[in-house]
Amino acid sequence: MSGSESTKLAELAKRRGFFFPSNGAYGGVAGFYTYGPEGAALKRHLEDAWRDRFTVREGNQEIEAPTIMPEAVFEASGHLEGFDDMLVECAECGESHRADHLVEDDTAVEDAESLSIPEVEELIREHELVCPSCGAALAGEPVEEFNLMFETTIGPGSGQTGYMRPETAQGIFVEFPLLAEYARNQLPFGVTQIGPAYRNEISPRKGVVRVREFTQAELELFVNPETDEPDLSRVADVELALYPIGNQREEGTEYLETTVGAAVEEGVIASEWVAYYLGIAQEWYERIGVDTDRFRFRQHLPGERAHYASDCWDAEAELGGDWIEIAGFAYRGDYDLAKHAEHSGEEFTVFEQYDEPLHAERATVDPDMSYLGPEFGGEAGEIAEALERLAERDRTAFEGETVSVDVEGEPYEIPTEKTGFSVEEVTEAGEHVTPHVVEPSFGVGRTLYTLLVHAYREDEVDDEPRTYLALDPEMAPTTVGVFPLMDRDGLGERARELLAALREAGFEATYDDSGNIGRRYRRQDEVGTPFCVTVDYESLESETVTVRERDSTEQVRVPIDELVAVLGGLRDGDRSFEAIAEEYEHQELSAGTENAAE
Ligand code: GLY
Repeated sequence: MSGSESTKLAELAKRRGFFFPSNGAYGGVAGFYTYGPEGAALKRHLEDAWRDRFTVREGNQEIEAPTIMPEAVFEASGHLEGFDDMLVECAECGESHRADHLVEDDTAVEDAESLSIPEVEELIREHELVCPSCGAALAGEPVEEFNLMFETTIGPGSGQTGYMRPETAQGIFVEFPLLAEYARNQLPFGVTQIGPAYRNEISPRKGVVRVREFTQAELELFVNPETDEPDLSRVADVELALYPIGNQREEGTEYLETTVGAAVEEGVIASEWVAYYLGIAQEWYERIGVDTDRFRFRQHLPGERAHYASDCWDAEAELGGDWIEIAGFAYRGDYDLAKHAEHSGEEFTVFEQYDEPLHAERATVDPDMSYLGPEFGGEAGEIAEALERLAERDRTAFEGETVSVDVEGEPYEIPTEKTGFSVEEVTEAGEHVTPHVVEPSFGVGRTLYTLLVHAYREDEVDDEPRTYLALDPEMAPTTVGVFPLMDRDGLGERARELLAALREAGFEATYDDSGNIGRRYRRQDEVGTPFCVTVDYESLESETVTVRERDSTEQVRVPIDELVAVLGGLRDGDRSFEAIAEEYEHQELSAGTENAAE
C-alpha cells in the first residue's frame, strides 16, 4: 500500500465508521481515537480470536484488573524511574517532539531510541535538525527524559497519587500471590488480560498506530526456568521470517527464512518459550488475515529493550512502507515478581513440591553467645552470622580446634567447641521458586489497522472502479448483507424475514434496500462484508436466494433452508466459496448485472 492508499484508507475508516479522531466537536485532542460501529465490531472479533488462541486453546485464565493503580506499583515495576521517551521542545513555537524520532526521520540512524541523551543532542546539532512544526533550528535545545505515564489523584483533597496503567501486565503481576493460589501453585500457568493501557505520548502520530489510550491483549506465562519447557514439537515446522540483531547490524542483510525448530537449534532465538509463542503467533496472524509476506519478527537491539526484558522480539507489519511493531514477545525473567516481593514485603513465589521428599544433611551452628559476647563485644552478632554462613558453605572449616571468620576485613579465631557446630538430617518437601515470566503482548488497535491495510484492494467490476476490504470472513464486522432485489411484490418482506432468521442463528447481518443492487454490493464490499444474499423473484417461486462472494463477485443460488449451514461453513472457514460454487447452481451474470439500475 502506497502513502496515497494509506490516506484513502484513513478516509474510508472515517467515512464508513471504522475509526476517527475523538472529540471532534471540541477541536479534538491528539492521540485519542473512537472506533465507530464497523471498527468496534472488527475489534471485538479480533479480541475474540486472540482470546480463543491465547487464553482458551493455551489453557490460560483471563482476568480483568483496574486501569488506575497506586504509585507504589510503579515504583516497584520500574516505570516511574525508567518509562521515559526523549523530549525536545522548540524554543520558537513551544511544540514538543520525540527527539529520537526526529533523528530517525532525518538521518540514516535507525535506532535512536537506544542512544544516550548526549548522543541524540549531538546528532540534532550535527544534522542541523529543525522543528517540524515551525522550522526553527533545534541545535542546542536540551533533550530531556519524559515519563510516559498519566498521573492522577485517587480520592478527594491531596489524595493518593495514582497512575493510569502503562501496560495491562502490572495488573496481573501485583495479584500474583492470589493468582498462584487459583492455579493451585502449579507452574507453568498463564494469565491473560485484554484492556486499555495509557501512554502520554510526546507526539502521537500515524493515526491509530501511536495513540495515548489503546487496547492491549497480554499473556503473562509464569514458568519454573529450571524445569518447565514448551511443547516445541507443536510449532517446530512453522516458518518464520526473522530479523535477528546480527542481520540488523549488517547492512543489506536479508531476513532469515527459517522454522521455529531450526531457530532454536541454531541459537537464533535464545528462549524456547519465546520461540514457541512466535510459532503460535505466526499461525494466528495467518488465520486472522495478516499478509505474511509483509510481516516479520525483529529482535530488539540491546539499547532498545524495556527495562524489564532480557530478550525481546517484535512482530512487525509493513504498513505504508514502514515496519510497525504490532506485538512484543519478551522474556521478563523474575524481574517483575522479585521487584514486587521486595517492595511489598509479600511472597511472590510458588512452593513447588518435589516428586519425592529430599533427605539431606544440613550443617548449622549454635554459637555460645555467653562466650562470644564478653570475648568480642559489639562484633559478637556479626561473628555469629559469619559462622552460620561458613557452615553452609564449607563444613570442613569446623574440623580443627579453631575456626577463622572475617568480619569487615578483620580476622577472628573462635574455638570450634564454642560454635555449636553440628550436621543434621533434614527432609525437604519442596522449594520456593520465583517464577520467570514470558510475555506475548499484542497491540489490538495496531493489529486491527494491519488487517485493514493488508486487506485494502482496488479493482474494476463491470468497468467501474471498486474499493473493497478482503477481510477474513471471521473478522469482518458484518458477515452477511441481506437485500431484496427491489422492495416490492413481497421481496422486501421475504428478505426481512430472512434477515431475522439469520440474526437468530447468530450471524452478524445487515439489511439494505436503498439504491441499485450494484451500489448495495459496493457498500458492503467497502466494509469487507464477505457475503451478500439477495432475494429475487425466483426466490419467491423456488425458495432459493443468491449468495455473492465479495472478492470474486461470483454468485451461486442456494436453497433458503440450507443457507444457515452454507454461510456458517463459509464464515468459520470450514468450506471455501469454490467448494460451494461446485455444489450449487452458479448464477450467471450478464455484463452490467452488478451495476444494474433498480
Ligand atoms: N507489557 C509490554 C508492553 O506494554 O510493552
